[in-house]
Amino acid sequence: MDMKVRKAVFPVAGLGTRFLPATKANPKEMLTVVDKPLIQYAAEEAVNAGIEELIFVTSSSKRAIEDHFDKNYELEAELERKGKTDLLKIVREIVPSNVACVYVRQAEALGLGHAVLCAKPVVGNEPFAVILADDLIHTGKNCVLSQMISVFNDRHCSILGVEEVPHDETDKYGIVDPEESDGRITKLKSIVEKPKPADARSNLAVVGRYVLNPAIFKHLEQIPRGAGGEIQLTDAIQRLLQEEAVLSYRFEGKRYDCGSKLGYLQATVEYALQHPDLREPFLEYLVREFGQRARKFMRASND
Ligand code: UTP
Repeated sequence: MDMKVRKAVFPVAGLGTRFLPATKANPKEMLTVVDKPLIQYAAEEAVNAGIEELIFVTSSSKRAIEDHFDKNYELEAELERKGKTDLLKIVREIVPSNVACVYVRQAEALGLGHAVLCAKPVVGNEPFAVILADDLIHTGKNCVLSQMISVFNDRHCSILGVEEVPHDETDKYGIVDPEESDGRITKLKSIVEKPKPADARSNLAVVGRYVLNPAIFKHLEQIPRGAGGEIQLTDAIQRLLQEEAVLSYRFEGKRYDCGSKLGYLQATVEYALQHPDLREPFLEYLVREFGQRARKFMRASND
C-alpha cells in the first residue's frame, strides 16, 4: 500500500438545515467568509498540505461547487479585455493546475460515513484525508492538515483532529476516550457519537479533519445505521480501532463552526479583521458604531 497521503475527500452532500433558507438552493459550503467560500478555504488547506487530488462528494443541489472550481472562459475573457489582471489571477488560481478535482455523487444524504464511502472507488487502497469545510480552522503557517499528515508520516495510524469542548456540549460531537497521551497525540480506547454529557468519557471532540487508512471502507460497508438513522463515520472508526491503533491529534489553531450561524458570524468578523484591505476600515467601523454604543444597541435590540 502506498503510504503517502495524496487525496482528500470533501463530503459536501449534507442538507445544511441549520442554515435554511440560505441553503435551500445554495450549498452551505459556498457560504462566503469575507471573499472566499468555505469550500475554497478547505481546498486551499488541502493543497497547502501537499494533496494532489480533491474528491468532492456532492449531491444534486451542489452544482455551484463544481462551477466554482471549473474554468469560467467568459469571465476570464472579460477580465482580460478590461485589463483587470489582479482579479484574473484570483480567478485562475483557485486551484493550482497540477491538482485534480474529482466529483462523486451521494444520491441520498445517508450520513457522513456514507458520504465518505461514496469516495471509495476514487480513493482506492491508500490513506486519505477527510475535510469538513464547515469547520474553518485558522492557523499560522502550518495548516491543520499539514500538522496531521506529519504525524501520519511518522506513525502510519489513522488520526482524528480533536479539540476540547465544554462538557455540556458533548452531545453535538464524536467524543473520544483517550488512552496514552503523548503531548498533542493520544492513542484512543474508543469513540462515541454524540454522548450525553453524563456518559462522555472526555471532552475531546472530533472536529472536521481526519487522516484515515483505507481499512475504514470495510467497516463503513458493514456498519448498520447509527445515531439519527445515518451511517456514522464515528461508528466505523470505533470498529477500526478494535483492529489497529487510531490516534487523536489536538491541533494548533482556532476553529469556527461555520455550520452554525453563530460560528459563521464569528469567523466573518475575525477573518475581516485579518484581511489586509478591510482590517483598518472595519475596525474603525466597529469602534465607531459599537464601541461606545454597544450597551445601548444591546438594550434596543432586546426591546
Ligand atoms: P452536518 O452534520 O453538518 O450536516 O454534516 P449538514 O446536513 O451539512 O448540516 P445540518 O446539520 O443539517 O445543518 C457534516 C458534514 O458531512 C457532510 C456535510 O455536507 C458536512 O460537510 N454530509 C453529511 C454529507 O456529505 N452527506 C450526508 O449525508 C451528511
